[in-house]
Amino acid sequence: MADGHDVIVLGAGAAGLMCAARAGQRGLRVLLLEGCDQPGKKILISGGGRCNFTNVHTAPDRYLSANPHFAKSALARYTPRDFIQLVEAHGIAWHEKTLGQLFCDGSARQIVDMLLAECAKGNVELRCDAAIRAVRHADGAFTVETVGGEVSAPKLVLATGGPSIPKMGATSFAYDLARQFRLKVVQPRPALVPLTLGGDDVLFRELSGVATEVVASAGKARFREAALFTHRGLSGPAILQASSYWQPGDTVMIDFLPECTPDRFIEAKAENPRATIRSVLSAELPDRLAVALADRIGEPKTFADTKDKALRMAGERLKRWIFHPNGTEGFAKAEVTVGGIATADLSSKTLEAKTVPGLHVIGEAVDVTGWLGGYNFQWAWASAVACAASL
Ligand code: FDA
Repeated sequence: MADGHDVIVLGAGAAGLMCAARAGQRGLRVLLLEGCDQPGKKILISGGGRCNFTNVHTAPDRYLSANPHFAKSALARYTPRDFIQLVEAHGIAWHEKTLGQLFCDGSARQIVDMLLAECAKGNVELRCDAAIRAVRHADGAFTVETVGGEVSAPKLVLATGGPSIPKMGATSFAYDLARQFRLKVVQPRPALVPLTLGGDDVLFRELSGVATEVVASAGKARFREAALFTHRGLSGPAILQASSYWQPGDTVMIDFLPECTPDRFIEAKAENPRATIRSVLSAELPDRLAVALADRIGEPKTFADTKDKALRMAGERLKRWIFHPNGTEGFAKAEVTVGGIATADLSSKTLEAKTVPGLHVIGEAVDVTGWLGGYNFQWAWASAVACAASL
């Protein structure tokens, strides 16, 4: 075998580290190439430094893909419970924060160290500062040209992720390689990303720093979590989630009163006719937001002087407030990428390219994108394990 390696894994991120470890532990001679000076940089910054490493509610419907069935096979064969067992076997303490999201008690560094220990167990050879320049495929071997020279193997795993957060080493390399091998790429776009506001919505920027629990909807997707106003637009978990479903030109609808019905003000009128929309909102929402929304609704009179019909319309507007985002903060701020290498060109069982035997694609490079909350790492682990078992 050229260079004595059975498989070369490109990219030592979440998926690449896991795949290399599992393949190595199966007895394969694995070379893991990483362009940065250290492996797992995104893991280190993930989950605010504590790595939200999985989600106990993992299910295929929490992923976006042109083929919603594609992720089922890998996710079923490597579950959050499997990853928790690995974490516990390494003595890493963890906790559930909210909505099934599991974090390290200590630091994300523990997850990187765990994956490196698993790689060491499989005698994986890891080379950092080895940015890949080109790949050739001839006579059943893949030859990879790096800054440090050429290496070859009969199998190649593409685990170089997506283009989100270039300053962490992210590149579009996976898509370039896919096109070279004539694999289709579903148009990539930034996801789990803050949305920017323009036009009339720009007035909301004055609320920068205000957060409140809402239901944010983009298309049919609805997320009940916190929304945060920023100096450029909207952020916070509810907005990041909705952003993955948002396309330019779409609106985002926000329910500012998720606990109430549209009749909230009519009910309040019965309790206190001297109250106003502003005074009721101040009890439900952060004060600056309550004032801004009440001003925009423009109903300053007391309830006693306001018709029920107007109160109902105000309630409906607050439950269906429409924003017209003019864009996103782009790949520089996006946690992940929606789109990527088309699942139609890959086996869902082995992640191998149907038309290029020996070439596998895993992790974020594939057109499978999870919700916020540990789902993306679970896909990275599961796709890596499915691939490694088939090498
Ligand atoms: P990943 O990006 O991890 O790894 C790809 C590797 O390939 C990198 O090491 C890169 O340097 C390398 N590479 C790229 N091009 C190369 C080239 N040409 N040559 C050599 N090497 C190359 N998800 C989650 O589930 N829970 C969380 O808490 C978070 N938190 C989070 C925070 C932030 C700030 C971001 C940006 C993202 C998250 N995510 C997350 C998403 C998660 O980080 C992401 O889904 C996984 O890291 C994807 O794993 P991959 O291994 O596919 O790519």
